[in-house]
Amino acid sequence: MSDAYVHGYDPRERARLQDQAGALVELLHSDTSYPPGSSVLEAGCGVGAQTIPLARNSPGARITSVDVSADSVKEAKQRVDAAGVTNVEFRQADIFAPPFGPESFDHIFVCFVLEHLSRPLAALTALKGLLRVGGTITAIEGDHGSAYFHPDSAAAREAVRCLVELQQTGGGNALIGRELYPLLSDAGFDAVRVSPRMVYVDSSHPDLVEGFTRKTFTAMVEGIRGAAIDAGIVTPEVFDAGIRDLYRTAERDGVFCYTFFKAVAEKSLSHLAESPD
Ligand SMILES: C[S@@+](CC[C@H](N)C(=O)[O-])C[C@H]1O[C@@H](n2cnc3c(N)ncnc32)[C@H](O)[C@@H]1O
Repeated sequence: MSDAYVHGYDPRERARLQDQAGALVELLHSDTSYPPGSSVLEAGCGVGAQTIPLARNSPGARITSVDVSADSVKEAKQRVDAAGVTNVEFRQADIFAPPFGPESFDHIFVCFVLEHLSRPLAALTALKGLLRVGGTITAIEGDHGSAYFHPDSAAAREAVRCLVELQQTGGGNALIGRELYPLLSDAGFDAVRVSPRMVYVDSSHPDLVEGFTRKTFTAMVEGIRGAAIDAGIVTPEVFDAGIRDLYRTAERDGVFCYTFFKAVAEKSLSHLAESPD
């Protein structure tokens, strides 16, 4: 893989992706369902955290889930098999060199992948080539600039900033959620619709306090401690204070807000008119 994947592939990160999916299934997946018989590509499936809700919401669709990491594909397959989901096939594959012919899929689903790519527009263009005319692409991304919380904390904001900076250094973009509309439009998709999905967490939602504030967002920021300190972009004292303050937002009087962006776009017939033949 040419892009540095800022979160890495260690077991803690795999568990974090599962916690993230569990806490967010309703918010991110409830309005995604593909018709029976349709073929769906899940690009960048990771360890399968989105694959299970995706496949369960479309039991009659044939899902092909791919990832550039062979280890992740193997683990995703184990998880999907253990969940008793039978309409998914897995393949190790790179979005930029896909082992599929043009227009092989009716729909494409891509979640939390574009943020890690140095060429997200090229990735979307490559995915568009795999989509049949009339098909849709669904892209979901976060945007760390959307994180705010109570009690507010300069150290916590600094720790989040370190993650944004490290991801940028690795060629990615942790603020990509706000760019989904221009990216999909520039890639030539039509009828682009973006809906912000805000996660609001206070202690009256203990599942989200645990599943999102602690185990998803704060765990993600905590995971880059060594890299941020080694890169010299923060002192250990400030970073550790920032993590303490992020965990503080998960206490009884704490509040945490974050916005995901979900985009759906079409590959329309207008593309035939652009073709020379
Ligand atoms: C943050 S994970 C998200 C995984 C999954 N979509 C989810 O939401 O849990 C990003 C995944 O994108 C994969 N990835 C990065 N570049 C890729 C590429 N060029 N082709 C296929 N997968 C890629 C990584 O290996 C990683 O598993």
